[in-house]
Amino acid sequence: MKSMTKSPLQIARSAYQPKLPAALKGNVVLQEGAATESVADHADIKNLFPNTYGMPLLTIVPGDKEEKATVGVGVILSGGQAPGGHNVICGLYDGLKALNPDNKLYGFKGGPSGLVDHDYMELTKEIVGEYRNTGGFDIIGSGRTKLEEEWQYEKGAEICKKLGINAIVIIGGDDSNTNACVLAEYYSQNNSGIQVIGCPKTIDGDLKNEMIETSFGFDTACKVYSELIGNIQRDANSAKKYWHFIRLMGRSASHITLECALQSQPNICIVSEEVEAKNMTLNDVVENIVSVIVNRAKHGLNFGTVLIPEGLIEFIPAMKTLIAELNDLLANNEDFLALNSDEERREYVKTMLTPESTLVYRSLPKGIAKQLTLDRDPHGNVQVSLIETEKLLIEMVAKRLVQLKAEGKYKGKFSAINHFFGYEGRCAIPSNFDADYTYSLGYTASILISEGKTGYMASVRNLTAPASEWIAGGVPITMMMNIERRHGKLKPVIQKALVRLDGAPFKYFERHRESWADEKSSYIYPGPIQYYGPTEVCDLPTKTLLLEQEK
Ligand code: FBP
Repeated sequence: MKSMTKSPLQIARSAYQPKLPAALKGNVVLQEGAATESVADHADIKNLFPNTYGMPLLTIVPGDKEEKATVGVGVILSGGQAPGGHNVICGLYDGLKALNPDNKLYGFKGGPSGLVDHDYMELTKEIVGEYRNTGGFDIIGSGRTKLEEEWQYEKGAEICKKLGINAIVIIGGDDSNTNACVLAEYYSQNNSGIQVIGCPKTIDGDLKNEMIETSFGFDTACKVYSELIGNIQRDANSAKKYWHFIRLMGRSASHITLECALQSQPNICIVSEEVEAKNMTLNDVVENIVSVIVNRAKHGLNFGTVLIPEGLIEFIPAMKTLIAELNDLLANNEDFLALNSDEERREYVKTMLTPESTLVYRSLPKGIAKQLTLDRDPHGNVQVSLIETEKLLIEMVAKRLVQLKAEGKYKGKFSAINHFFGYEGRCAIPSNFDADYTYSLGYTASILISEGKTGYMASVRNLTAPASEWIAGGVPITMMMNIERRHGKLKPVIQKALVRLDGAPFKYFERHRESWADEKSSYIYPGPIQYYGPTEVCDLPTKTLLLEQEK
């Protein structure tokens, strides 16, 4: 194997030993908790998952040494990159080897398609050793292929049988873990002897609930973006001439944007969930931004920062209806795909929408309207990372300021710069928090497998305490499910966690945002992630988690 050229930090980081919960360190046993129910639609979910519904919560506790049979495990990285993915694999590998040195780990390459296409590699000590504490998913690659058809499950079973694989670990977000659950149920119904375990991944932070406190990668990604925002704020405060409109990744939920606001205290931060709850129009959003700009201009401050969640557009009620109609209209629509020009597609769409949505669609700048009809991802989601909302807002704000200037209500200068931070943070070297959390998740998965469990997601909780006090175990995936409309059809899916307006992180933001917006500027400069140094600097979890768990 050719080893990669490493930076001094990478070399030092490869020696970092991730911290594990105390309960995972010796011999362990699983303690069963209460039986579970899905978050909603109990009867329907139970019907669809007769074998994996209602299973108990599991906690890993110290136990006596027991001989464990040899197992073969296949691991899949699914969806967008998130810092710490490699450490899940390292934790899984180390956990499996600690249980029985003859255990084997295979990686399916390029995401779920690797399972179906039989594209795999054995993960040896040397290979795993090259990727300890590194960012990225390049050890085996990732992909967004959806596992949803019986022939795919059968192809998977075929390769598992050939390689002696008893369990598959799917490291993914809500959609991929939904697929993991369906796969677990299928293999269980068919007595194929293949267990399926999920791991909560996504920088978006929207795969969380009572038992999954956060998804991995959120911590590192937010720290990277907050560093950049802090740097931009220092620049803005020095040059005093630009308004920076910064769109942040996160798909639908505004968790990333809110966390970055808590870390950097910008002048304006839009939270999509609030926009929806207040039934705001795009013009209302623009008016809010404009009022802060006008006020700061009165104090001679023609600069500032605006944070915008990438999913904003989907939360403006009229836009949401339009997008939902487009999702249904464009799902497998051969006629639309056969059209040659943007203009033809635009005309076609206009004829197929309801009159209300046609009006909204027509009112949009052509560029944005086109972006809304681009290919959906394999899960049927509109690809919000491709929609340049920050440019749309700059355009609308600039227009409104021109009007106000003409009316004598604004005397400032407006010069704006747009940014989009997303890919910059997805493969960063994981923070200590993410390095420890992901290693613990992988280790936990190895124990769930050795105990014969299937249809569970590895869970590590109590995350604001020192790692030694973290609580590891398993949560039935069916517990997180409900029925939602996808691709025009009702489907069982894991419920996405959006920002709660009654939650502590939003409440904190709400209490402080006015003072961040005014002429005093309360910018905070978080600086880069620190890997070495005092615990209070290096091991800090996100503000979101700290506020959510504040007693
Ligand atoms: P996952 O939900 O798969 O973790 O992906 C997260 C994400 O980074 C979103 O924030 C973003 O909208 C999307 O992926 C971008 O997708 P792609 O990598 O296909 O451009």
